Amino acid sequence: LPHQRHAFRGELLSVSRDPSLHGAEAIRHLPDALLVVEGGRVLACDDWAAIGSRFADLPVVPLPGLIVPGFVDAHVHFPQIDCIAAHGDQLLTWLERHVFPAEAAFASRAHADGVAAFFLDELLRHGTTSALVFGTVHAASVDALFEAALARNMRLIAGKVLMDLGPDFLRDTPETGRSDSEALIARWRGRGRLGYAVTPRFALTSSDAQLASAAALLAGHPDVLLHTHLAENTVELAAVAARFPDAADYLHVYDRFGLVGPRSVFAHGVHLSGRAWSRLGAAGAGVAHCPGSNLFLGSGLFDLAAADAHGVKLGLGSDVGAGTSLSLLAAAADAYKVAQLRGHPLDPFRALHLATAGGARLLGIEREIGGLLPGQEADFVVLDPAATPLLARRTAGRSLAERLFALQILGDDRAVAATYVAGRCAHRRQPGFSSPRA
Ligand code: GUN
Ligand code: ZN
Repeated sequence: LPHQRHAFRGELLSVSRDPSLHGAEAIRHLPDALLVVEGGRVLACDDWAAIGSRFADLPVVPLPGLIVPGFVDAHVHFPQIDCIAAHGDQLLTWLERHVFPAEAAFASRAHADGVAAFFLDELLRHGTTSALVFGTVHAASVDALFEAALARNMRLIAGKVLMDLGPDFLRDTPETGRSDSEALIARWRGRGRLGYAVTPRFALTSSDAQLASAAALLAGHPDVLLHTHLAENTVELAAVAARFPDAADYLHVYDRFGLVGPRSVFAHGVHLSGRAWSRLGAAGAGVAHCPGSNLFLGSGLFDLAAADAHGVKLGLGSDVGAGTSLSLLAAAADAYKVAQLRGHPLDPFRALHLATAGGARLLGIEREIGGLLPGQEADFVVLDPAATPLLARRTAGRSLAERLFALQILGDDRAVAATYVAGRCAHRRQPGFSSPRA
């Protein structure tokens, strides 16, 4: 059966490569684009004037606003949606007081199903079409998430948390952690657009035996990622140093177990030595920068210049529930402010790259998504530069760079007019404020 074609027309922006490395060539801006989708993939994407006549027989859906690739949340915890905005703690006490109790509720599959559906609908409402997601220690939490993602046809990567040193009500063993992970990989491999990540929570909640078994899982499955936390908080760092006194640093702990490689995604990396940065770069490992979380938990200020100096792959993560918004626009705003405090303003086109193609590269799915390039899956978002009275006022008559930056600094889910997954509308914003001119 021939696939159905759909055509969309509007202003389009994509940043497939990092403008800090490739300059303006990395930026594709088509003020009047035609985007043709066939079978969920981009068949053509170019100036209307150049290709409109080729597709003259297709009905065209006009998309007023700014079309950008769907956002990629490079680090988020779906079970923590219900403990977001918990007051008063930094990382380790926040985990004990708020996170572990919330995650314990996922022993119930019905609970997991309800939260998974809510979480994915919220991602789509925020313009996020792909994510690298922590489940809980319960394998069924990942079944719940994958079923819900499959139903929405989302490209999502997730894993069951390995934590044999967790609290007694929330722990596995090296053996069950390994067999549950193997079973999830076998059960979900090749289904829809899903991928698996071996997910040890962090060094402190896994025994040596479990860290070794995580590495064996990784080595046994060339198509899975390694997803964990790294060097987020100074108290955490001290505890890691106390448990592993002969490790050169936190990264070295993971490295000694064979967990540092091109498929490794480390969340945070706020407190890293030059040695660790250089090792991350040499290994081809990447970091999910989660500025909102780092500010909320008081963890510290990410050193973007150090990451760049060592050529480390980067993405942007919400890290909800330590992060306080699922919006990658909000993450870009937080990343900008953190970079300001570090003395290196973050370019808005680079921020968009990190929130889309950069995140896709970090997750190893850059061939499939991130740039709206021909052949890629047609996940995209329509941003509304007039979503609020202030945005309308600040973006009217402005350059692309100014509009994009204002969307990042002033925008959030309100600025997401619509979200398309594989060419199909998965979310359309309810009519709220619209500019008097609209
Ligand atoms: N380190 C270990 N577990 C977690 C978690 O759930 N959230 C964050 N932000 N850091 C962690
Ligand atoms: Zn996290």
